[in-house]
Amino acid sequence: MTPTTNPEPASVAAADDAGPAPALEPVPEPEDVRRFATERGILVLAHSYQEGFLQECAHFVGDSLELARKAAEADAEAICFCGVHFMAETAKLLSPEAEVFVPDLDAGCSLADSCRAEDLAAYQAHLERKLGVRPTTVAYVNCSAAVKALSDVICTSGNARRIVEALPDDRPILFVPDRHLGGWLQEVTGRELILWNGACSVHELFSVDTLKELQAAHPGAITISHPECPKPVRDASDHVLGTAGMLALVKETRGATFIVGTEGNMLYRFRKEAPWNEYVAAPGASCACNLCPFMQLNTPEKLWRALHERAPRVDVPEELAAPARRALERMLELS
Ligand code: 13P
Ligand code: SF4
Repeated sequence: MTPTTNPEPASVAAADDAGPAPALEPVPEPEDVRRFATERGILVLAHSYQEGFLQECAHFVGDSLELARKAAEADAEAICFCGVHFMAETAKLLSPEAEVFVPDLDAGCSLADSCRAEDLAAYQAHLERKLGVRPTTVAYVNCSAAVKALSDVICTSGNARRIVEALPDDRPILFVPDRHLGGWLQEVTGRELILWNGACSVHELFSVDTLKELQAAHPGAITISHPECPKPVRDASDHVLGTAGMLALVKETRGATFIVGTEGNMLYRFRKEAPWNEYVAAPGASCACNLCPFMQLNTPEKLWRALHERAPRVDVPEELAAPARRALERMLELS
């Protein structure tokens, strides 16, 4: 599938010739924000869960896998990453020469936070003692660089099934940190996985009852949900797909109504790139909007400031970077 692509910096070498930064306020139109970045050799990447304005500012919008690939191949001098912290870390790991910075350093991820590296190391040691063999650790990309460094291979929602299917069956597999995505992987691959007990606070709150009410109100609608959703929501869906898979499906479908079980900003991309369908956002049990509070910390003002200051920076200590990069590169080879 083709991710959203806006013209990229023609040459990163232009960075020093760009002249003094203009006044910070007000934030100009997205094309002008992008031009400002381009002139300074900054590649702006945005995840599809970012608000529409930020998506429009970006040179490239994608899912976790597309953004990782883009960071690896970009050869950029600087990357401003509109997403959450683990995504910027991934970009830094795959593009180590680039300065990587973000609009808001506090934009974390509840799922990544549910797996601390020291807890994972202790659990791996426990499993090795108990099973007599060290399990293969597969980490969903939504985790810290320290957790990636303890893992054998990384996966995203877009390639998780392929990665698990590609692993030899001579060793048990420990899957971290999302128990819902892991549960779904067990169902679709038939492989037995040892699951870490983590979850995304946004996707976990989708309610199957409200989903069924929406389905009754929209007969004939196609329900799509993210594999980070709990099993009852997945089971009530027509398709379980990562964000890139969802986008591909809506683009190839005409005149349908989709009930969407993922972060609310995804609908911005759907409406922009497949306006011939109707989209209804599935609300969560306690939040009517299903916006990720971490993604929402990034704002146009913070992006504009970050582009001027080339900060706050995201760096990964070298002792973590080498093993984490190996696990990411193994993912890119396998997918
Ligand atoms: P994908 O883009 O991999 O589907 O990511 C979902 C997500 O929750 C990212 O935080
Ligand atoms: Fe993390 Fe969930 Fe937000 Fe994705 S949607 S960044 S998994 S909290």
